[in-house]
Amino acid sequence: MFPDIARDDVFRLETKRLWLRWPRVADAKAIERYSSRWEVAKMTARIPHPYPPGEAERFIFTAREANALGRDLILVIAPIRGKREPIGMISLESRLQGRLTVGYALAPEVWGKGLATEAALAAIEAGFTLTGAIEMLATAHVENPASRRVLDKCGFAHSGTGLEGAPARGGMVPCDRFRLERAAWASRRAPAPGALPPDEQRATP
Ligand SMILES: CC(C)(COP(=O)(O)OP(=O)(O)OC[C@H]1O[C@@H](n2cnc3c(N)ncnc32)[C@H](O)[C@@H]1OP(=O)(O)O)[C@@H](O)C(=O)NCCC(=O)NCCS
Repeated sequence: MFPDIARDDVFRLETKRLWLRWPRVADAKAIERYSSRWEVAKMTARIPHPYPPGEAERFIFTAREANALGRDLILVIAPIRGKREPIGMISLESRLQGRLTVGYALAPEVWGKGLATEAALAAIEAGFTLTGAIEMLATAHVENPASRRVLDKCGFAHSGTGLEGAPARGGMVPCDRFRLERAAWASRRAPAPGALPPDEQRATP
């Protein structure tokens, strides 16, 4: 689904505060640090808890394989400034024809600063720009208001509630489902006719 440019491990996205880049073996310790936290794992379908030895390496190899095949785009999130080790991850997975499923997780130390939203907006932009996906899908545990809010800020619309498979949580869990259609995403990005670019707007008295 993803083109050659994303299938190479030099591929990265840059936002104001973050790099979104392919995971590498040297990231294993940092990935284990946030993934092994219960407050992170419990809201996800696939992060096991307790986090077994070797699981971070398994995640890295699986992600790199899916990226190299162009099937998915699974990136770690690392700050541009300071220590550049991963503070989280974001994924776009092509589980359903013509659609990308968005997932993310961040270290609790950096929650509440808008970083998940910043990463998700960049990943969604890349997903719609690099592929022909007609929509993005996402699910959030019904008791995960932070994730719901991230999706809301990215323009997702609630599309229903139901049970979703969560192998690492031992079965099915109640989730809210969300979708962002390409047309809705495009209309959010498009400036209103005649609108000034943001820099010129600031300069206007
Ligand atoms: C979900 C998660 C990625 C959010 O990361 P984050 O960087 O804190 O997200 P942001 O700061 O971009 O946005 C969070 C929003 O949720 C809001 N929020 C946080 N906790 C909330 C709560 N208990 N009730 C309501 N809103 C809440 C924040 O105020 C913020 O909204 P605002 O910008 O309007 O104030 C992070 O909590 C996480 O990694 N959780 C564990 C894994 C997970 O849930 N992954 C998603 C699986 S669907």
